[in-house]
Amino acid sequence: MPCRLAMQNKSSARPLRYFAPAKINLYLHVTGQRPDGYHELDSVVIFAPIGDDIFILPADDLTLEIIGPEAHALQGFEASENLVFRAARMLAEKYKVTAGAAITLNKVLPVASGMGGGSADAAATLKALVEFWKLKPAAGELVELALALGADVPVCMKSRPLRMTGIGEKLHETPAMPNGCLVLVNPRISQSTPEVFEELHRGKWKASGYSSELPSDLDFYAFVSELKSRANDLEQPAIRLAPVIEDVLAVTSAQANCRLARMSGSGATCFGLFQKIEEAEAAATEIRRHQPEWWIQTAGSGDEGHDLRQAYTG
Ligand code: C5P
Repeated sequence: MPCRLAMQNKSSARPLRYFAPAKINLYLHVTGQRPDGYHELDSVVIFAPIGDDIFILPADDLTLEIIGPEAHALQGFEASENLVFRAARMLAEKYKVTAGAAITLNKVLPVASGMGGGSADAAATLKALVEFWKLKPAAGELVELALALGADVPVCMKSRPLRMTGIGEKLHETPAMPNGCLVLVNPRISQSTPEVFEELHRGKWKASGYSSELPSDLDFYAFVSELKSRANDLEQPAIRLAPVIEDVLAVTSAQANCRLARMSGSGATCFGLFQKIEEAEAAATEIRRHQPEWWIQTAGSGDEGHDLRQAYTG
């Protein structure tokens, strides 16, 4: 957490901080597969005001320290293999940066959880180091680096509601969304994205066609029924690999006022969509009571609720 970082930082320099928000796929259709094996998608994503943090301080070398409530999940992995470190190294190589940077990743989001945490961390690192090292990338160069790090990294560079197509690199504006709040529920399992895509092919997968653009000016209930007409095509394969996801969806959708329960990305995190923050918080409290081991968060403020498009940005 920032205060722990401050305690560790013996110099008086204030670290540069970038927020890496959780990405939620409101729907995700797998529309095809490219010859290189990557899948083509059609998905609308939003970003929740919960996520990891990247802190940067001056240093002679490039270093990465991982702290925070979910840091334990990355223990035993080489820091140099972390997407954050790879992003930093790639940027330094591309722009021939000789300065170092002491990077700290505050890991708040569960690892491999369908919320794009690693991708958001990499995106935040690229943005932070461009500022920190005063780089001037030409148009398109950063997106190219981002895509080389992962299919979700380009959308995470934007951290605002967008529709993604291609393997995730084609980004399109999406119309305004009504107010709404989320409950995010992860049953504390890591889910491997490539394994979920492999499992998709073991089932009766047929490429979905492209959906129409989400209509604009929908009220909350019309928006929910529009989302209900779409799906996350990775949900069933993910459930076959991890049946607990079905329990997460059942428990979440059974909560009073839950209008939609769906898995995000390749799982295992699922979201419940509620109209009001009090409803989302009541549901989160209830789910926590039944499943104290699960990771459960609400995304919304205590005021009138959130505009899913405007407020859920990093
Ligand atoms: O791009 P990223 O490293 O996040 O993807 C991890 C893996 O997930 C890929 O190697 C691929 O197997 C699968 N994937 C896919 N199609 C996508 C995104 C990911 O097949 N659009």
